[in-house]
Amino acid sequence: MSEQKIGKVLYSQTDITKRAKEIAAQINKDYDGEDLILLCTLKGSVLWFADILKNITVDTKIDFVSASSYGASKTSSGVVKIKFDPEINMYNSHVIVVEDIVDTGNTLKYLLAKLEERGPKSVKVCTMLNKESRRTTDLHADYVGFEIDDLFVIGYGLDFDQRFRELPYISYLEEDDVEAL
Ligand code: IMP
Repeated sequence: MSEQKIGKVLYSQTDITKRAKEIAAQINKDYDGEDLILLCTLKGSVLWFADILKNITVDTKIDFVSASSYGASKTSSGVVKIKFDPEINMYNSHVIVVEDIVDTGNTLKYLLAKLEERGPKSVKVCTMLNKESRRTTDLHADYVGFEIDDLFVIGYGLDFDQRFRELPYISYLEEDDVEAL
C-alpha cells in the first residue's frame, strides 16, 4: 500500500458539528409543519448525516442510497453506478439528499433524475463540502456546509480508496501524492 501524506486540518469536528447545527436549524425553519425524508448517500456522508439528523426537529424519516462514479482514483470515471434500495415511499414527500461532497455534480445529477421518477413533492441537496470551481453540471446545492478549493479532501467520512474515513476532521492529501497518482 502506498503511503499518502495527510495535510493540515481544514475543518475540525467542532467546526463541522457547529455548521451542521446551523444547517439543521435552517432546514427546521424551511420545512416547518412538513414531513421530510433525509436520504443519506453512502458511504461518505454517514458522519455528516448523523450530525444533521441529530438536530432535526421536523417529522423525519430516513433512508440510504449508494451512488458513485469514483473507484481507486481521484478523478471521476464519469460512469455513475447506483445501488438504490428504495424501501421508503417518496411519493409526494419532501426529500433532502445529504451528500458528503459535490465535485463535478455528475453523481448527484444522475441520482436526482432517478429520484424524480419516484414523484417526490420536492428534492433538495444538503452537502458537507462544495467544490463549486470543479462543477461541470448545473447541479445546485441548496444547503452547503463549507465551500472548498480544488483539493482532494479526506476524513470525516470521505475516503481515498476506502481509507481515511475514520479521521474525526477534514484534511487533504498533499500535492506530491496527488500528482503521483
Ligand atoms: P462528482 O460526481 O464529481 O460530483 O463527485 C461526487 C463524489 O465523488 C462524492 O460523493 C465523493 O464520493 C467523491 N469525491 C469528489 N471529490 C472528492 C474528494 O475531494 N475527496 C473524496 N471524495 C471525493
